[in-house]
Amino acid sequence: MSGSLPPTRLGAVPDFELERFFDRFEFDLPYQLGSSDPQTLGLGELLAYADERQRQRWATLRLGYRTAAGDPDLRAAIAGLYPGRTSEDVLVAVGAAEALMLTFAASLAPGDRAIALTPAYQSLHEMPRAMGADLELVPVERAGGGWRFPFERLMDALRPGITALVLNTPHNPTGVAASAEQLATILRRCEDAGIRVIGDEVYRGLEWALPTPPSVTGLSDRAVAVGVTSKVYGLAGLRIGWLVTGDTDLRRRAMAIKDYTTLCAAGPSEVLATIAVSAHTALRDRTRALCEANMDALDAFVAARPDLVAWRRPAATTISVARIAAPLLARHGGDADAVLASWRGRAGVVVVPGPAFGCAADEFRLGFGRTDLPAAIQALSGAG
Ligand SMILES: Cc1ncc(COP(=O)(O)O)c(C=O)c1O
Repeated sequence: MSGSLPPTRLGAVPDFELERFFDRFEFDLPYQLGSSDPQTLGLGELLAYADERQRQRWATLRLGYRTAAGDPDLRAAIAGLYPGRTSEDVLVAVGAAEALMLTFAASLAPGDRAIALTPAYQSLHEMPRAMGADLELVPVERAGGGWRFPFERLMDALRPGITALVLNTPHNPTGVAASAEQLATILRRCEDAGIRVIGDEVYRGLEWALPTPPSVTGLSDRAVAVGVTSKVYGLAGLRIGWLVTGDTDLRRRAMAIKDYTTLCAAGPSEVLATIAVSAHTALRDRTRALCEANMDALDAFVAARPDLVAWRRPAATTISVARIAAPLLARHGGDADAVLASWRGRAGVVVVPGPAFGCAADEFRLGFGRTDLPAAIQALSGAG
C-alpha cells in the first residue's frame, strides 16, 4: 500500500500478496504451476453440457440488470448441491471472493473473536480483521514431510466467547481436509458454544484421500457454506460464487450489503454457471481425472529428480505446498527466490513463493490442475 491517501477502514487492508504476485507473472509466462484453478473450458465446450432449455436461455439472453439474489435457475441448481437446502437459502455473488466478503460483513462486528487456520487464502484473515474482529490463528500441522488437518488444536480453540470459526476445508494452500467425522464433531462443538461456522468450501468435491464430507450448511442452520465455479469446474472467469445458509437473517443482511457492492452478477455468467452447476458430476469428474493424472506425473517427477523438488500428494484440492530440494537450493547459494526466478526465466514455469502464504522461503504452492503440467515439469527438469 502506498500513496498519500489518509487511512480508511478498507484502505487499511494489507496488499493481497498472492494477487500482487499474479499481477506480475500470471499472464505472460507459459506454465502456470502455482494456480489453484484447474484447466478452464472454452465457451463451446461448456455449452455442449447444456440441455435444450439452457441452450434457449443462452441464445435469447437479454443483457439487462438481474435479480439481486441470483438467477432463479442458478439458485435452484446450487441448492441441489446441498441436501436439505432450497433456492431460498442461496445468495449468488461475484466469485467466492464476494460471497466471503458479504458473509464476513454480515456476521462480524468490532470486538468479535474469530478462529481461522494458518497458512490461509489471505482474505480469510484480512476480511474478518477489516470488519474489526480479533483473529486467533490455528496452524495446519506439518507431518512426515506433508501436512495434517489440525483437528485437536482446532477443538481446543473452540471455546464459548468465540463468534465465528472460519473453516477452509479442503484447505488452500496445504490441501489438508477435515473428514466427515471431524467436521461433525467440530460443528457440534460450535453449536454448543454458540460459534458460527463460516465454511470456505471452494475445493469441496476434489478430495483424493477421503470421501467428500457433507457441507457445513447440512450440519448446522447457522453455518454458512461458500462455493464457486472456479475450482471444481475450472470456470474462474465466470466470476460466479455463492453462499448457502439456513440463517435467513444473515442471508438477507448479506443481500442488503450486496446492493452496495455488485448489486447483481453478470447475466451471461449466471446462465453459463447454471449449465455448469447442472452438469456438476461430469465437470467435477473431468477436473478430478486431470488432477489425478497430474499427481501421478508429479510423483514420477519427484521420484526421478529428488535433487529438485520435495512434494507429497495432498489429501484434497488442486494445490499443495512443495519444497525446493536442498541440492537445488545449495546450487543457488541458498537463495529460494533465485531458484524460483530461474524457473520462470529458464523454463517459463511460475509457482507461488511460500511467503505469499506465510510459508517458508524454500516452500512454494504447486498447482496440478492444468493440462500442460507434464510439459511444465519437463521444462523444470531441463532448467535444473
Ligand atoms: C480458499 C479460497 N477461497 C476463496 C477463493 C476465491 O475464489 P474466486 O477467486 O473464484 O472468487 C479462493 C481462490 O483461490 C480460494 O482458494
